Amino acid sequence: MKTIAIASDHAAYGFKTMIIEHLTAKGVKCKDFGAAKGVTVSDYPDFALPVAKAVAKGDHNYGILICGTGIGMSIAANKVKGIRAALCGDTFSAKATREHNNSNILCLGERVISQKLALEIVDIFLNTEFSNEERHIRRISKIEK
Ligand code: RB5
Repeated sequence: MKTIAIASDHAAYGFKTMIIEHLTAKGVKCKDFGAAKGVTVSDYPDFALPVAKAVAKGDHNYGILICGTGIGMSIAANKVKGIRAALCGDTFSAKATREHNNSNILCLGERVISQKLALEIVDIFLNTEFSNEERHIRRISKIEK
């Protein structure tokens, strides 16, 4: 069974709750790393880094990080070795980043995309396997060095 580490800052609490409900209904286990309900100001690195470290350690299959734009979360998560965090605003990128980059964290922007599109992106990201093609393995290994 896939387990997901998920977090948002205050700007994306709504998307986080929606995604947890969506995935839980499908039998996907989610571990919520915050932010807590009612928090009005928070700092995205405080959520991005614990999620990224947990995913890098192998505690969860994937991470989902959401902030206003998704940009802060992706910048912070990509500082952790072994993390390939992809900010996606369309379904094509969500599929391609799994197939080509073997991305292990999906970042979304609550102030950027609709609820419907966010859930479509989440489903595609989590249900697309890495291609395992030699050229993609080679490119990823160049980042890991
Ligand atoms: C919060 O206002 C906002 O800056 C944050 O959610 C995010 O968009 C940062 O990248």
